[in-house]
Amino acid sequence: MTSAFRDNLLAGKTAFVAGGTSGINLGIAKRFAELGARVAVAGRDPDKAQRAAAEISHDAIGLSGDVRDYAAIRGVMEAVVDKFGPMDIVVSGAAGNFLAPVLGMSANAFRTVVDIDLNGTFNVFRGCHDLLNRPGASLIAITAGQAINASALQAHACAAKAGINQLIRVLALEWGPEVRVNGISPGPIAGTEGMARLAPDAATRQSHFDRIAMKRWGEIEEVAESAVFLCSPAAGYITGSILDCDGGSQIGDASRGDLSKGMA
Ligand code: COA
Ligand code: NAP
Repeated sequence: MTSAFRDNLLAGKTAFVAGGTSGINLGIAKRFAELGARVAVAGRDPDKAQRAAAEISHDAIGLSGDVRDYAAIRGVMEAVVDKFGPMDIVVSGAAGNFLAPVLGMSANAFRTVVDIDLNGTFNVFRGCHDLLNRPGASLIAITAGQAINASALQAHACAAKAGINQLIRVLALEWGPEVRVNGISPGPIAGTEGMARLAPDAATRQSHFDRIAMKRWGEIEEVAESAVFLCSPAAGYITGSILDCDGGSQIGDASRGDLSKGMA
């Protein structure tokens, strides 16, 4: 796709993407690097992190750390700053998900998703504050429509992502004007682990297409453009916002009724 942003927009900036070793977050990391940023990504699997870094750019770094472990993810971010200097952009995107009803979910299963998504985002943002280039740094959490729309088989993700939305707003209040804190809520994005898990069969995928205003799944690159926008000067007065990059998924159900009926 054609980008709306000039090639050197992020030159001289340091960006860290937690959970940036695959999928949407890796796409964001790649776009940051294309626009000139020094980029670091982290996930649990060290080999996957190395492979991701090699895909991003020749000087990107891929580190291993679990966002559930505050000391571990703090150590990762200290290593990023040692290598690249204070961070201008931090994305918290690590997540875990699976379909399960509450009665098919142990207490540990619920806690695991809340721990990765919500506590992980707290750990990344709490841990990065004194490592940021301030004023001017931009933080982005990757949330989801489950934060707003209750969804069966998604109690853990609904609770975790709703918590992330409020954490974004509280941090925007506490850290403005030095640091802007925003979120991106992607809709169903093609070719991702998330959609492989949440829409594993053709019927579920079709029902997603039918309900969405844009009548298609999104592309990783489209979410990446939203991330670039939020950390660019164009979003200089935007903080505490959640940007829905979701083809209209959250505004309602576009599958209702035959729109040709009643047309002149
Ligand atoms: N249904 C019900 N419970 C499940 C489950 C499922 N499909 N998958 C895992 N669990 C439970 C486990 O049984 C375990 O509970 P228990 O100890 O009571 O048995 C608990 O969840 C933790 O599982 P575990 O495999 O130990 O966790 P982990 O920390 O190794 O992995 C997950 C975390 C489960 C979220 C794993 O799917 C993961 O790593 N996901 C990352 C990728 C991803 O989800 N991407 C999509 C993002 S939208
Ligand atoms: P993905 O490819 O599975 O990416 C998840 C990333 O997080 C990987 O880099 C993974 O690497 C890392 N990770 C997982 N658990 C971690 C942990 N405990 N500590 C550190 N890193 C961890 O997922 P995706 O589908 O692209 O989703 C990315 C984000 O977008 C998530 O926040 C998701 O909720 C959100 N989202 C996705 C969609 C969609 O359509 N896919 C829709 C709405 C929102 P390791 O496995 O090596 O740790």
